[in-house]
Amino acid sequence: MKIEMTTITKSALLMLLVGCISCASPNNTAVDNEPSLYQQIGEKPAIDKIIDNLVNIIGQDEVVFAHFAQSNVTNFKEKLSVYLCHITDGPCQYNGDTMQDIHRGMYIDTNQFNHFVELFISAMDEANISYPIQNQLLARLAPLRESIFKM
Ligand code: HEM
Repeated sequence: MKIEMTTITKSALLMLLVGCISCASPNNTAVDNEPSLYQQIGEKPAIDKIIDNLVNIIGQDEVVFAHFAQSNVTNFKEKLSVYLCHITDGPCQYNGDTMQDIHRGMYIDTNQFNHFVELFISAMDEANISYPIQNQLLARLAPLRESIFKM
């Protein structure tokens, strides 16, 4: 009887653990067959459109342009595209430097970060991304704040 209880307890624990792993994974879209955020955005063409818009907007912006003045635009576009694909559960693996390492030494302040987010929203608007999808993407960018901010 003691052995049976132990076996049952172990099975129950295993089921709980497996269950919890599935539940705790916020990006586990394969389980419930819902389209990923990447698919809902419109995949690579939509992401690249957002980035094109963003780069054009930054080019005319007085608050953050100075940061990008010496940047390699082609490299920035490519890396950001893979990064956004990755964090929206697309078929990409971002293996670049961490957000912390990339933005270290830029001393980005709150005002600049918030302004960048506003420009990003304008870029999504221009790419005709719906507000609910915009909000989902912004929610995935929000935690980056601490890594990018004032490094
Ligand atoms: C959620 C916000 C942000 C994300 C997701 C993000 C993401 C990225 C990525 C993926 C790169 C490319 C890195 C590489 O070349 O490997 C990059 C580069 C860069 N980011 Fe950000 N960034 C964000 C916010 C900002 C802000 C607020 C600024 C400045 C105000 C900024 C300035 C730059 C600059 C100057 C580069 C270097 C471009 C180059 O020289 O190649 N970023 N960022």
